[in-house]
Amino acid sequence: MNHTDMLQHARQVLSDNDRGTYTVPTHGLYPFQWNWDSALSALGFAHFDEPRAWGEIETLMAHQWEDGMVPHIIFHQPDDGYFPGPDVWGTGRTVPTTGITQPPVTGFAVRRIHDRARDKGLARAQARALLPKIHAWHEWFYRARDPEGTGLVALLHPWESGRDNSVDWDAAFERVPTEGVGAFVRRDTTHANPAHRPTDEQYKRYIWLVQKFRSLGWDNTKLHDASPFKVVDPGFNAILIRSCEDVADLAARLGMDEIAEASRAMVAKGVAAMKTLWSDEMGQYLCYDRCQGALIQSPSISGILATFAPIPKARAAALVRRIETLADSCNYLIPSHDPTHPAFDGLRYWRGPVWLIVNYMVADGFARAGETEIIPRIINDCLRLIETSGFAEYHDPITAEPCGGPHFTWTAAMVIEILNTYELAA
Ligand code: GLC
Repeated sequence: MNHTDMLQHARQVLSDNDRGTYTVPTHGLYPFQWNWDSALSALGFAHFDEPRAWGEIETLMAHQWEDGMVPHIIFHQPDDGYFPGPDVWGTGRTVPTTGITQPPVTGFAVRRIHDRARDKGLARAQARALLPKIHAWHEWFYRARDPEGTGLVALLHPWESGRDNSVDWDAAFERVPTEGVGAFVRRDTTHANPAHRPTDEQYKRYIWLVQKFRSLGWDNTKLHDASPFKVVDPGFNAILIRSCEDVADLAARLGMDEIAEASRAMVAKGVAAMKTLWSDEMGQYLCYDRCQGALIQSPSISGILATFAPIPKARAAALVRRIETLADSCNYLIPSHDPTHPAFDGLRYWRGPVWLIVNYMVADGFARAGETEIIPRIINDCLRLIETSGFAEYHDPITAEPCGGPHFTWTAAMVIEILNTYELAA
């Protein structure tokens, strides 16, 4: 497939999954609007339809909760093909949503779409309207998910991480009970190969947490302390810090000084706290179990995605070395889990496969850190995967097997973004 055909195909995926005011990640498996999918997909739309790109983010932020939280799924239309649906979450919203959040990459996306916009007037108007909402979400994070003011936010459910089934959660998840979870019928395994998806035991724990939070009325002043699952994820925190930094920069240029100043303070605190997640032994950042008070010795992509935040240059250089080591044990960068680790699984959801969105954010972080040599390798591997196996949700880093849902929106959006951002050999 040449790049022109690839671009055309990618646009087709986006328009097939476009529901007018929002985009579904893929038909069937994910029939609603997902939070960080929308922000990252907007980057793709922006290359050929700026109003549609802004609309995607506007719709997402229109469903922000009063306390500032932006939900991970918005159930715009009923659809029986997905479990757990609105009746399980019971958040009581007029347009139903889940009660947990997802990686806050929207601040980054807004700044990027704004800065390269052809329609500057529209971009300024949209940014002015969106920044206060995004800023309120960031403040919510540090208030509700870092009540002791450590500078790092915790996730209360693996689905908040966006890396739903990562090995990182295994030990902490074992401590989540399953008692009281009634019988349920999963829908994901009717759309995707069960070998690619989480196990039933894990699903029970996912649902136990949902029921627990629901029993607390989804009150975010209570959830953090009550949750038996509290994990600090370096990649997630890096996305939050980066979005705060982008909001600070853009707000300052738009004369929104209070937002700029408050955002800069959050960045400074977050960057300082990221140091506590570094492991010399592993040569990367690690997750931290806030219930146990210990780092989680699991070599996942999250500790490399940390480079999306303004981390020290020496750390970025060390993360490049880490990727070079990973490259010795796979054919396509960057595996979501170290292929030499016993828990690695090249097919199963976030336990090994490659996600283009992660590759894009890591490459972007390295570009900012001046670590440019590794970037063509990461970017070319993305395109090789698409050429070999199409616009799948994710790919096996050894065989390139396409996994999860097909015809995937953010995979296509990343291809559009990459082909328009990087200079590539034809
Ligand atoms: C899966 C992914 C999550 C994504 C969602 C929709 O749940 O783990 O990151 O947002 O699918 O694509």
